[in-house]
Amino acid sequence: MAEKKKKRASYISSGESRKITRFNRRVTKKLEQQRAANARNPESYTTKMKDPNNVVEFDNVCTYFFTDVGVVKAVDGINFNIPRGVTVGVVGESGCGKSVTSLSLMQLLQRPMGQVVGGEIRFNKGDGTAYNIVNTPNKIMESIRGNEISMIFQEPMTSLNPIFKIGDQINEVIILHNPEMSKEDVKKRTLEMIGLVGIANREGVYNMYPHELSGGMRQRICIAIALACSPTIIIADEPTTALDVTIQAQILDLLQDLKNKMNSSIMLITHDLGVVAGMADYVVVMYAGRIVEKGTAREIFHTPSHPYTIGLMKSKPVVGQKVEELYNIPGNVPNPVKMPNYCYFRDRCEMRCDKCDGAYPPEYKIGDTHVVSCYRYAEEGEELGYPKSVDVEEL
Ligand SMILES: Nc1ncnc2c1ncn2[C@@H]1O[C@H](COP(=O)(O)OP(=O)(O)O)[C@@H](O)[C@H]1O
Ligand code: SF4
Ligand SMILES: [Mg+2]
Repeated sequence: MAEKKKKRASYISSGESRKITRFNRRVTKKLEQQRAANARNPESYTTKMKDPNNVVEFDNVCTYFFTDVGVVKAVDGINFNIPRGVTVGVVGESGCGKSVTSLSLMQLLQRPMGQVVGGEIRFNKGDGTAYNIVNTPNKIMESIRGNEISMIFQEPMTSLNPIFKIGDQINEVIILHNPEMSKEDVKKRTLEMIGLVGIANREGVYNMYPHELSGGMRQRICIAIALACSPTIIIADEPTTALDVTIQAQILDLLQDLKNKMNSSIMLITHDLGVVAGMADYVVVMYAGRIVEKGTAREIFHTPSHPYTIGLMKSKPVVGQKVEELYNIPGNVPNPVKMPNYCYFRDRCEMRCDKCDGAYPPEYKIGDTHVVSCYRYAEEGEELGYPKSVDVEEL
């Protein structure tokens, strides 16, 4: 009986399905028209940073997908900053919206289905003004991507072209961003980059194809490509997930070292707290499209405060500590099409109280840089406000 009820809850009739399709078509068409109008109006994409020391500011960003089963609020009202020269780790389990956050920043969402429907993503131009990436036209984005923001992906093989030699692939990026450079200078710079990522046999690797290299070497090449233009910010989306543990540490060290040399910032996305522990200055913990806790790495690792972060810490293996079984956070993430109107973690939370049955919790400041979205801190913390969702019916 319960099974039958469950089935019915996730069932969509053909009438409803047609309604969803019509709605999606109408809303995405309108959003695309607005987008085209914004692209023609520099005022819509020129703004100011709240703090000029930040490279990127995510300000109440909402990124939704208009799917056949309804609206998926993949990212729903997130706020955090990436200061210059700093590594910010974005952590959370698979599907919590980490990649969608970075794709929103790069303006690489699958459109028209995926749309940033609310908030501002400010990117520092360095001259006192900033781009609001949400409204920035493609032409400008093309020059920002690669020049200012570059990306390293999880699977190095998919970012490299199997039919071109390594040298040619790095050359191509350098030429694209420096069209005035001579052929010799381009090759010289490419060899320099190959050396910089710790590969001794530069000339040899220059003439090799991707399949001739190991996974770790390929990821080094991807880093070389990403850094070829000294970007202001590097987005590394699960950069070591596909690599062996011993290689992981080497790649992270390399990334950190190069970042310091170039004074770039890193947005390090990972589901693995261990990766963040050694590298990030700040940590943002995401759960079901929202930020549940953020603070310095020290705050997050020494005084994890949100029950979800506490659970993540307990489920992380610790070297030298013997345990029978690693902790497993019970339950599941709620259905992304029908998010509840109370705390998204409530049904899995072992610390919930009466207040938790009310609205989604606001953010509470519990230290200079430590913010947590949980009613447990209602008394001691300073209330900062609620995450702002967008009502899609009003779009
Ligand atoms: N192209 C898409 N169409 C529909 N839903 C998507 C799309 N891309 C991502 N999503 C949804 O957005 C949510 C966040 O995804 P993602 O950011 O990729 O998670 P992760 O934290 O693992 O990187 C997921 O629920 C996912 O199903
Ligand atoms: S608000 Fe309540 S249910 Fe949500 S995480 Fe905090 S204690 Fe748990
Ligand atoms: Mg991802």
